[in-house]
Amino acid sequence: MGSLNGPKQHRVSVTRRDFLKAVGAVAGAIGVPALVPSRVLGADAPSNRIHVGLIGCGHQSQRIVPSFLVHDDMQMLAVCDVNRRGIGYYYPDQVLGRETARQWVNEHYAEKTGNPQYQACDTYNDFRELLGRADIDAVAIVVPDHWHALIAIAAMKAGKDVYCEKPLALTIHQGRQMAKAVRKYNRIFQTGGQFRSSPNVRHACELVRNGRLGEVKTVYTWVDPNSFESPGPGWQPMPVPEGFDYDFWLGPAPEAPYHVERCFHRWRYILDYSNGQTTNFGAHTNDIAQWGLGMDGTTPVEFEDNGSEFPPAGSLFTAATKTAFRARYAGGIELFCETRKSSAAKFEGTEGRLEITLGGSLKTFPENLKDSVIGPDEIHLPHSIPGRTENVRKLIDADHVRNFLDAVKSRKDPIEPVETGLSTASLCLLGNMAQILKRRFTWDPAAERSPDCDEVNGMLTRPMREPWKLEEIA
Ligand SMILES: NC(=O)c1ccc[n+]([C@@H]2O[C@H](COP(=O)([O-])OP(=O)(O)OC[C@H]3O[C@@H](n4cnc5c(N)ncnc54)[C@H](O)[C@@H]3O)[C@@H](O)[C@H]2O)c1
Repeated sequence: MGSLNGPKQHRVSVTRRDFLKAVGAVAGAIGVPALVPSRVLGADAPSNRIHVGLIGCGHQSQRIVPSFLVHDDMQMLAVCDVNRRGIGYYYPDQVLGRETARQWVNEHYAEKTGNPQYQACDTYNDFRELLGRADIDAVAIVVPDHWHALIAIAAMKAGKDVYCEKPLALTIHQGRQMAKAVRKYNRIFQTGGQFRSSPNVRHACELVRNGRLGEVKTVYTWVDPNSFESPGPGWQPMPVPEGFDYDFWLGPAPEAPYHVERCFHRWRYILDYSNGQTTNFGAHTNDIAQWGLGMDGTTPVEFEDNGSEFPPAGSLFTAATKTAFRARYAGGIELFCETRKSSAAKFEGTEGRLEITLGGSLKTFPENLKDSVIGPDEIHLPHSIPGRTENVRKLIDADHVRNFLDAVKSRKDPIEPVETGLSTASLCLLGNMAQILKRRFTWDPAAERSPDCDEVNGMLTRPMREPWKLEEIA
């Protein structure tokens, strides 16, 4: 057990002061006064505010909660987590869970309203109770991947709009049902791949789309290595911590003995709950590939393992420790996805090359290519916030949420609708299947089937542990 590369993400917030500072920093970045007490909870009349519930109060909620709270026209009414409050998350001393999130929200509004008694944020262990509240308009789903589809579909059926973290779903079938539910229940759905709201990523993709590299032949997408080492063969189960509803956490996943490294944050390295860094960071870098190539709504048509590696048998972690697959699009463009020190996407064309990191650093060859201005008659990709040019992570997160809230009001699709999230997730999931099967197969994106690999077709869905059942959407 232990950290492999050390926690290298910046800590967002742990203490109350840190959290309020985090909201203040996001607010400062987007240019709104977050903590100035106001008559009501912000500029908007209460009736115009979007009432939001948060489902999942772990590591990523530290980014999601401030990214929502800075917007004055929303109010977070409730938070839900199957963990009441505890340690074991990304950083050893972090205490997260629904009580921590509730405290953040209440203290934020206490400060904002000037009412130290503010206690209006409710907590739930069971997301179905939160979804049963008629006064909640939208939910943010920030739970492990094995829960995305069940919770998102239940939310949409209950009439809620959804902001759902990436990767969209655990399987292609689950993602397809989510997409059908969005249209059937006429809901707004934002996939949480926030780099669609990055000005630098958009500029990079516009350069590619407008032919600045000539004809693109090859794309490289890189994913971070695992941040933690797996407990090896012979690992021992642990007692379930008090306040943690482990059976609910497992939900539709197979019965399994508790271990702290199974549940908190590290679930992403275990195939029962996720698909490793191939889908975790791949959901970002392959999304850039898809955007730059104009492939939203489709995927490559051929996949092949390219030297991926997995943990030794008997380890707790089961997903690839080294991502390496090759894919080919219908027009012949090749995509190589692999583990590198730092996540990025690189496009190679007949007249130039371009590399963009998730941090927004853009390198081109020739060097001045990056300064090329996109003309008025060329392809312009959508902006979350028109006119935004600063490429700052806090801003990107908050802008992606802003774009969602605007879509909730306008009832028009946001920048990363469910179908876009599904294409990117499918690419990553199919790459992962090639890695697991150690073979080459072809894929029909329209039929969502492999014409030549039954094993792949058998991996498009997964059984769910009772009583959980995925609704098949007509
Ligand atoms: N967009 C990004 O850059 C980014 C970054 C990190 C994580 N994420 C995504 O955010 C999601 C959560 O990741 P994390 O790192 O916060 O994981 P985490 O394990 O730190 O937190 C997840 C929380 O969800 C809770 N949970 C699990 N099942 C639940 C259920 N049925 N109902 C309510 N709560 C439940 C857990 O108890 C835990 O507190 C994942 O989809 C992940 O891919 C996105």
